[in-house]
Amino acid sequence: MEKYRGICRAHTNIALIKYWGKRDDELILPMNSNLSLTLDRFYSETQIRFSKDIVEDCFQLDGEWQDNSEVEKISRFVDLFRQLAQVDLACEVISYNHVPTAAGLASSASAFAALAGACNQALRLDLDPLALSRLARRGSGSATRSIFGGFVEWQKGSGDHDSQAVPFDDANWDVGMVVLALNTKKKAISSRRGMKHTVATSPFYQLWPQVSEKKLLEMKAAIKARDLDWMGETAESHAMLMHATTLSADPAFTYLEAESLKAIEAVKGLRQQGYKAYFTMDAGPNVKILCPYSQSQAIIDALAPEFGADRLIASRPGPGIQYLEAFSEQK
Ligand code: ADP
Ligand code: DP6
Ligand code: CO
Repeated sequence: MEKYRGICRAHTNIALIKYWGKRDDELILPMNSNLSLTLDRFYSETQIRFSKDIVEDCFQLDGEWQDNSEVEKISRFVDLFRQLAQVDLACEVISYNHVPTAAGLASSASAFAALAGACNQALRLDLDPLALSRLARRGSGSATRSIFGGFVEWQKGSGDHDSQAVPFDDANWDVGMVVLALNTKKKAISSRRGMKHTVATSPFYQLWPQVSEKKLLEMKAAIKARDLDWMGETAESHAMLMHATTLSADPAFTYLEAESLKAIEAVKGLRQQGYKAYFTMDAGPNVKILCPYSQSQAIIDALAPEFGADRLIASRPGPGIQYLEAFSEQK
């Protein structure tokens, strides 16, 4: 094995209580604490190598070398680790997304958690998971949570030193998500840009931090009670609060598409048929359905005629980051 090389897998996570808005853009400190479920089915695998034979930082994603602006994001993030390790070598990053990129399925979460883990391994920093969570945060806020498996809370903290994720519940019970991948094209407005514009211009945003903290308390109680209906009602309500802030931004915008609204109605229809199915949506048109994992196949069968079976994917709760010796099977 080369001297400075690390490979890490991290799973994506979907927030039930959303992170939407930063109080510090540079450090990526969130306006509100938030909570997610890590998913088994979607992940990124990332390798980093540091070597004096590498002329300048470079980054390949899904087999394609990325342009300067993408490399810059990686470089700035890796700098945090280079500083800690007192290493001044250029790096090569190679990553595979087993999740659609930039489509609202949280590729930035698995991406920066995996890269953080890979850096930790390559530079033998031996950082504990909390420290790694704080560093992953600097790449993308949602990545803070992807260090851990199951239900994870990102505590907003008071600064860089304590804005980190903590495992909340291992989700080792009958819970899961069905992802309805309606449109996996790259979104027009990144999460970063969307939330910044919202914070700056929506007159409703001032309500967000306080309402979110209250919903978070409810969500935590609902998870501890394993009460999926309560969890689902809280998740739906909080997701719509987020989308209301983008609709009230100036100029207004939305990540919802016509089919997303149809899917929301379909999920409500499932409940009338007796399923415990609740939707959530992030910065993209795709709809995620919280449900008992045991009902996921029946839910897929029920939605397939309208949306197509190939666009419906069931996932169990996923684990935290894993260090690898090699990439798993490539796409
Ligand atoms: P998403 O909803 O997928 O998280 P974002 O707008 O938050 O969308 O982030 C998408 C961006 O994350 C991509 O444009 C890219 O810059 C970065 N990204 C995605 N996957 C990777 C990866 N495997 N390694 C490094 N960066 C990645
Ligand atoms: C709607 O973590 O992708 O998915 O921190 O700017 O990289 P940056 O944004 P990102 O935003 C995620 C927003 C969300 C809600 C959530 O995951 O909590
Ligand atoms: Co993201």
